[in-house]
Amino acid sequence: MDGQLSIFETKQEKTTSKVVNVSSVPQRSPFRYPGGKTWLIPVVRKWLKQSKETKTLIEPFAGGGIVSLTAAFESLADKIVMVELDHEVAAVWEVIVNGDHNWLADKIYSFDLTSENANLILKKEVKTIKEQAFSTILKNRIFHGGIITKGSGQIKNGENGKGIKSRWYPKTLRDRILAVAHVKPKMKFITGDAFAELEKIKNDVNIYSFIDPPYTVAGRRLYTHFEIDHDALFALTSQLKGKFMLTYDDTEEIRGLAVRYNLDFRTIPMKTTHHIQKNEIIISDNFDWWK
Ligand SMILES: C[S@@+](CC[C@H](N)C(=O)[O-])C[C@H]1O[C@@H](n2cnc3c(N)ncnc32)[C@H](O)[C@@H]1O
Repeated sequence: MDGQLSIFETKQEKTTSKVVNVSSVPQRSPFRYPGGKTWLIPVVRKWLKQSKETKTLIEPFAGGGIVSLTAAFESLADKIVMVELDHEVAAVWEVIVNGDHNWLADKIYSFDLTSENANLILKKEVKTIKEQAFSTILKNRIFHGGIITKGSGQIKNGENGKGIKSRWYPKTLRDRILAVAHVKPKMKFITGDAFAELEKIKNDVNIYSFIDPPYTVAGRRLYTHFEIDHDALFALTSQLKGKFMLTYDDTEEIRGLAVRYNLDFRTIPMKTTHHIQKNEIIISDNFDWWK
């Protein structure tokens, strides 16, 4: 691959030094998503605009789905496929993208949020897919940092002493769901495994893959499904015939994998939710679009 960086090089031109300005990125996801990629949207826009040909975008580790939603709203792709393995997260997308979004929008809007009512919903053991979708949204809004894994807990005092209501914006959530409904015809959601879905499309040249896997230490706390085989993901990504963008924390391990699979990369600074500045690494089949 041309312009390959060795793991020891840190050439300035391979790096963007400015933190991306996210003020131009509308919040379209009903989720608060830890590790969400809203901040990367200006870069994703450039990547998707590299050719004018008809394209399908696949987001195999969809999470909060901000990349898919942006592509759908801004017509950056003709078809969009989202994939997510976590059954709690997947239920939300199943209902919004493939199912009865109105039910979920109304349920959120009309729900009387008290600790008691929330517990009744969260503690119910067997849930229909719609109930699961609502339960996930509720948990995502009333648990610390939006973290819905086992071991996370409900907000006690919240912002301005508003307790569990401090992140519950029923009208905004309803409106976001209804807005997504407008772009549903070009979207598809799959509850499933990223590897299996990428394997199916790996020879398709018209598919753009935006790959944002869970990674290392942070992933353990944030996601129920945090353990994936990163080496295998690099191997599979390197076989994709279409365009791809693979994102990770910038670590020696990841640089090592990029070098091993002969994949070119760039780094980009970002601020975490705790305002710590760190670098993210972007791996792609080409960087003609990167300016
Ligand atoms: C880093 S997050 C994606 C965040 C997303 N880009 C956003 O902006 O919200 C990774 C997601 O991959 C999901 N996941 C983990 N293993 C998976 C697998 N094998 N297949 C599909 N999804 C998986 C996790 O549940 C998590 O939601």
